[in-house]
Amino acid sequence: MFTKDSVIGIVGSGAMGSGIAQVAATAGHKTIVYDTNITALEKAKTNLTNSLGKLVEKQKITADKAQTILSLTSYSSSIQDFKSCHLIIEAIVENIDVKQSVFKELESITSETCVLASNTSSLSITSIASACQKPEKVIGIHFFNPATLMPLVEIIPGVATDSVIANHCQTLINSWGKVTVMAKDTPGFIVNRVARPFYSEALRIYDEQLADMATIDWAMKEFGGFKMGPFELMDLIGHDVNYVVTETVWKQFYFDPRFRPSLTQKRLLEAKFLGKKTGRGFYDYREGSSLPEPKKDEALAKYIVNRVLCMLINEACDTKYLGIASATDIDLAMTKGVNYPKGLLKWADEIGIAQVLNTLNELYDDYQEDRYRACVLLKQMVKQGKLFY
Ligand SMILES: NC(=O)c1ccc[n+]([C@@H]2O[C@H](COP(=O)([O-])OP(=O)(O)OC[C@H]3O[C@@H](n4cnc5c(N)ncnc54)[C@H](O)[C@@H]3O)[C@@H](O)[C@H]2O)c1
Repeated sequence: MFTKDSVIGIVGSGAMGSGIAQVAATAGHKTIVYDTNITALEKAKTNLTNSLGKLVEKQKITADKAQTILSLTSYSSSIQDFKSCHLIIEAIVENIDVKQSVFKELESITSETCVLASNTSSLSITSIASACQKPEKVIGIHFFNPATLMPLVEIIPGVATDSVIANHCQTLINSWGKVTVMAKDTPGFIVNRVARPFYSEALRIYDEQLADMATIDWAMKEFGGFKMGPFELMDLIGHDVNYVVTETVWKQFYFDPRFRPSLTQKRLLEAKFLGKKTGRGFYDYREGSSLPEPKKDEALAKYIVNRVLCMLINEACDTKYLGIASATDIDLAMTKGVNYPKGLLKWADEIGIAQVLNTLNELYDDYQEDRYRACVLLKQMVKQGKLFY
């Protein structure tokens, strides 16, 4: 369906759109970037030139290759320029009404066979597709930030998406050097769903004053092997983004307590302590301030890691149980999309599934909250002595 000659259209020249355009042009496609904001288009053009310049300097690509990528990429403020496209990836503002209206317009100007994809992080692909006459050619193609560096791409067919089109999209994105996983159209897809407890359980431990944030971050890195602790990572992502994703996923799951956001993080957002970018978040990054020291208590650290990890595994297990994605894809998504040190289901096999279930049952006994209910698949696997792999 797609070849090297397929023309790729990108709607939106912001952080994601410009990155995806660079990936597509690097793979050898003629790529057209469209934005309603001329300043954003100009910025994207300058950024591409600079970014390619740096790659040449670091000898990652040749000057010839950089020139080819630049000549393959064009910028436009007219949506009509998308007429010749074979695949269009939309990366505009995260708003369902705006996305639906753009998809409707895209369908009206492109060919019958042009595939329309959205890079949305949290909206329903099925709902975006419903604005089109042919929802079967609408799909989610979800890149991670920065798109040029992060290997993972989630492919999300909506309810009406043609499975043949989904397979062609997966093959195309694989040919761009990305690692793809297929996910059902459900809130947060794989990564933004399965990763929730990394933040929310750490926040819960902090809110209960069982440990301070520096100790939780230290524990997750030192004993969990994670590259960053949850509080550092939330500060880096920004609470305007991280809190909103949590709240959106929680609302879309009909307020399931498993996804309930933390008031502590909401207050930071209200105070505009958005994290590193504003100088203050959980930590104080302003000049002259120093970061707090962790309490290096090994027993406490092991308790923290075990609790957060078992909650993550439970979410991964539910994602498999509900057929959102396969065990392999869930593990690939978490290692390639958010750099987890190990796939969660592989990790569960290593710890022992009975041990994971035991931790969850103990939490459930202590709190009597639905949040800690163990996935039924874990219970079945323990009964049958099964492993994920
Ligand atoms: N930033 C991330 O970390 C990230 C990661 C994965 C997915 N996403 C998703 O990607 C999409 C884009 O996010 P972003 O961070 O690149 O946003 P951004 O704000 O950096 O860029 C959005 C761009 O879209 C343009 N735009 C807005 N409305 C438009 C319209 N109607 N027609 C044409 N252009 C329009 C804006 O001018 C802007 O340049 C969102 O759906 C977001 O959820 C973001």
